[in-house]
Amino acid sequence: MAKKIFIAAAPMQAAPYLCAMQILDGLLVSKATKEDLKIKVAQLNIEGKKTPHLAAILIGSNGASETYVGAKVKACSEIGYKSTLIRMEAEVSEHKLLEVIEDLNADLDIDGILVQLPLPKQISEENVINAIHPSKDVDGFHPVNVGKMVQGLDTFVPATPYGIMLMLEHYKINIKGMHAVVVGRSNIVGRPMSILLSNNTTPGNCTVTITHSHTHNIKKLCASADIIVAALGKPNFITADMVKEGAIVIDVGITRVADSSKKSGFALKGDVDFEAVAPKCSYITPVPGGVGPMTIAALMKNTFLACQQKN
Ligand code: GUN
Repeated sequence: MAKKIFIAAAPMQAAPYLCAMQILDGLLVSKATKEDLKIKVAQLNIEGKKTPHLAAILIGSNGASETYVGAKVKACSEIGYKSTLIRMEAEVSEHKLLEVIEDLNADLDIDGILVQLPLPKQISEENVINAIHPSKDVDGFHPVNVGKMVQGLDTFVPATPYGIMLMLEHYKINIKGMHAVVVGRSNIVGRPMSILLSNNTTPGNCTVTITHSHTHNIKKLCASADIIVAALGKPNFITADMVKEGAIVIDVGITRVADSSKKSGFALKGDVDFEAVAPKCSYITPVPGGVGPMTIAALMKNTFLACQQKN
């Protein structure tokens, strides 16, 4: 009997020697995500349903935090969400902040609450995160939501890793079975990123190594990776010798470095030596214009979800 041969369509994969390097355009993908949400909000309005409402708390006047929160509030208005920005002085007590969070938890019009990190040293980050009701925790930092994420259940996923997954999904990059190396173990990016990459999802199903400042042979580990997510906040840490031909490189770094040629007086630098690394990659994210805008888009998606659960 003739042998049957099944020919499966080849999935789109990071093919080391076949495809040219492609820049992953976070601005473009975030714009498309926000457009999609804008249509959904218009639909909610037509149906007479509640408009998503995000409350952001900004403590002190850290320049980077000001910029991030400003971008979050601006995205809300672009999409048609309501937003409330609460500013508190750098010396505010933890007790006062927890009272404000309690009020926002009880406010039926507020769907999502975020407290911009880092916090001044008199305030415990843990107490603040635990105080936000899990159903309004659009940052996905509350232990209940982290636990659900680890179990692969639907929940709010921290915005930066979620944004990265959305970008991989948008470009239909098949990462299944790949060795992913995550550099950095923060609760905001590295640790949740490692979980999402290993979950049984698409994208996902990677074999993940999480590395940090005590990791031995970090260069060797990175050089063995099919996908590197650099999230340690050290400009140009990932050099060309740490990257395999055809690897996917995701740069989460966004450090402000003094630059007198810029009007602002600083330039934004990623964790990856882009010029040297990009020619070796199948895909790479730029800084700025890569992961940053996707973080905002992902937060907007979480805020919509929080409202939808109420609606
Ligand atoms: N600081 C840096 N990234 C984040 C984030 O995603 N959420 C909050 N709340 N603070 C941050």
